[in-house]
Amino acid sequence: MRVLVIGNGGREHALCWLIRERAPGTDLYCAPGSPGTEECGESVAIDVADTLGLAGFAAERGIDLTVVGPELPLSLGVVDAFRQRGLRIFGPSRAAARLESSKVFAKEFMYRHGVPTSDFVVADDRETAGRAARRFGLPAVLKADGLAAGKGVLIVSSPEELEAALDVFFVDRRFGSAGARVLVEPFVPGEEVSFIGFCDGRRVLPLATSKDYKRIGDDDAGPNTGGMGAHSPAGIVSEAQVADIMNDVMERTVAGMAADGTPFSGVLYAGLMMSPDGPQVLEFNVRLGDPEAQALLLRLEEDPVDLFVAGAEGDFGRSALAFRAGASVCLVLANQGYPGKAASGDVIEGIEAARSQEGVVVFHAGTDRRNGEFIATGGRVLNVCAVGEDLDQALSRAYEGADRINWPAKAMRSDIGRRVLATGGGLS
Ligand code: GLY
Repeated sequence: MRVLVIGNGGREHALCWLIRERAPGTDLYCAPGSPGTEECGESVAIDVADTLGLAGFAAERGIDLTVVGPELPLSLGVVDAFRQRGLRIFGPSRAAARLESSKVFAKEFMYRHGVPTSDFVVADDRETAGRAARRFGLPAVLKADGLAAGKGVLIVSSPEELEAALDVFFVDRRFGSAGARVLVEPFVPGEEVSFIGFCDGRRVLPLATSKDYKRIGDDDAGPNTGGMGAHSPAGIVSEAQVADIMNDVMERTVAGMAADGTPFSGVLYAGLMMSPDGPQVLEFNVRLGDPEAQALLLRLEEDPVDLFVAGAEGDFGRSALAFRAGASVCLVLANQGYPGKAASGDVIEGIEAARSQEGVVVFHAGTDRRNGEFIATGGRVLNVCAVGEDLDQALSRAYEGADRINWPAKAMRSDIGRRVLATGGGLS
């Protein structure tokens, strides 16, 4: 079986690692790939946005299955390009990917199909957006409609912050056309949880719950990032809430997409707020979360190639996935300065020392190779992941692993999982 994975981050290294572990006979390619994915398969120098180039490569090389990591190629129609050539690919069509690529589309979809989410106003100008935020009351949330590399959500807590955020969208136009329309919502308090399912157009196979930590600093201080750590299970969701999320969010969404003529296959990721009124969808993504995937895939006891082939063909032929008991953790090691202008160029030491520790796996997110050494080049650089009998053990192993890795500009959070552990952390 020849498999192509699209992407080059920590999530894609985890996908390639899982394929190597569970389907060792696979001929594996990754486009464009990274020094991490090269531990598992061959890199292919095609950009993730070059959808026709990727389809051309898959046709030429007889690729049997393609799996898409990031949202950009999905929003550009990579699945449509592959299907037009009769190539098998696991992911949503461009039309279905609007659940992530247009926040306004997703919100209107949720209202149409009764998926729980907060009130909203769509604003094309500064005055409408400001009026809506003041009507909801502060704090309020302003979101760019289009894809903004995880940076398009601003939470404003004071009139001054609101004015500054309105400037960002409507004067500076920081998000370009992605921010020309703005979704304004009331702020929903609570703990965030990620709920991810594999979909075949009709059915959802739920993954274990997970939780990511988006802010750069301990105690959720500072700006949002792509994610500074994650664990699975989330540890704060009851079985009854899992059932509600499956019924009211995941299955209702897949049924709604099918009813609207845009069936959803691929990965559906609901970013949820566990609010006092029950789970509410903050946003949908149409791919695995990063760094949630790194924690989740460590626990997945399935052959991902079989699974994704079945999903791409429209029938998983089963209703549940097997997960390793216990817990898993992913810690993100970043370069200082991230999520702004990050340092770059230090030599990384200690990756093999971390890997030699029981239960620890290290994925590359932003590294380069120079003279036989790994260089820290990205904002997010490495993911130190660990499994354990429970969250406490997985966290201890991951933090010990992370301590063995060093470079001068290394930065990380020291409180991943701490708040959940303080609650007991024994739930899903
Ligand atoms: N961890 C958040 C995301 O993948 O969007």
